[in-house]
Amino acid sequence: MNLSVRVIPVDEAIASRQAVRAYLDRSLDMDLLHSILELAARAPSGANMQPWKVHVLGKKAIARVFEAVKGSKISPDRANWEEFKYYPSRFVDPFLARRREVGNALYDCLGIDRRDIAAKRLHFLQNYAFFGAPVGLLFTVSRNMEEGAVLDVGMFMQNIMLIARSRGLDTCPQAAFAAFSSVVKGAAGIPEGERLLCGMAIGYADRCHPTANLKTSRAPLGEWVSVHE
Ligand SMILES: Cc1cc2nc3c(=O)[nH]c(=O)nc-3n(C[C@H](O)[C@H](O)[C@H](O)COP(=O)(O)O)c2cc1C
Repeated sequence: MNLSVRVIPVDEAIASRQAVRAYLDRSLDMDLLHSILELAARAPSGANMQPWKVHVLGKKAIARVFEAVKGSKISPDRANWEEFKYYPSRFVDPFLARRREVGNALYDCLGIDRRDIAAKRLHFLQNYAFFGAPVGLLFTVSRNMEEGAVLDVGMFMQNIMLIARSRGLDTCPQAAFAAFSSVVKGAAGIPEGERLLCGMAIGYADRCHPTANLKTSRAPLGEWVSVHE
């Protein structure tokens, strides 16, 4: 069994990770995925409670989720984020400006006019097909856990994204799933006692896609570091 392991320096995995929104129609070996998840679960968590649960969706389950969200006829701006409110109700600067920058860069790559709401919605809907990835992951936590579990799941997710890179795979973390949690959970068969936090596309990137070279910027260190002596 070849799990395509190529050990790369952690810096390289971090620097080469980007949110990939177009995938090749190439299946993902389940042994490879399990090995990634197992290693990722070495992530720290408060009191080692390991609050994460992962639902692995194959093509049929992805199609079910996609159809359910599409069929709900709820537009993303009307979705209610009932279980996990990822974004603020009102964006203020500098967050608003940064959000606009990445949105505009993405729509420019896709050739979508910024005023073309219908085309933007159509692209956004692709979130629920995991952007064509062969596998989609949905991350949940027990309703018995508090907000601390969200931090733990975030670290676990970052591990998955970096390990995936070292195996020639790419990912896209997707909060979009939390916007439609009841619809998504129903279609994916996720128990009511679990809170849906986030999704993640994982697969082989389509490097010829117009969005493939979208490299996002980062604010300079001076904007977000304060030294207290
Ligand atoms: C928790 C989380 C949720 C995200 N949700 C989405 C999403 O629903 N759809 C999407 O296309 N990108 C999503 N992203 C990707 C971000 O837009 C992306 O990480 C950011 O623009 C920085 O770009 P980079 O990941 O390519 O460096 C999400 C990222 C994170 C960390």
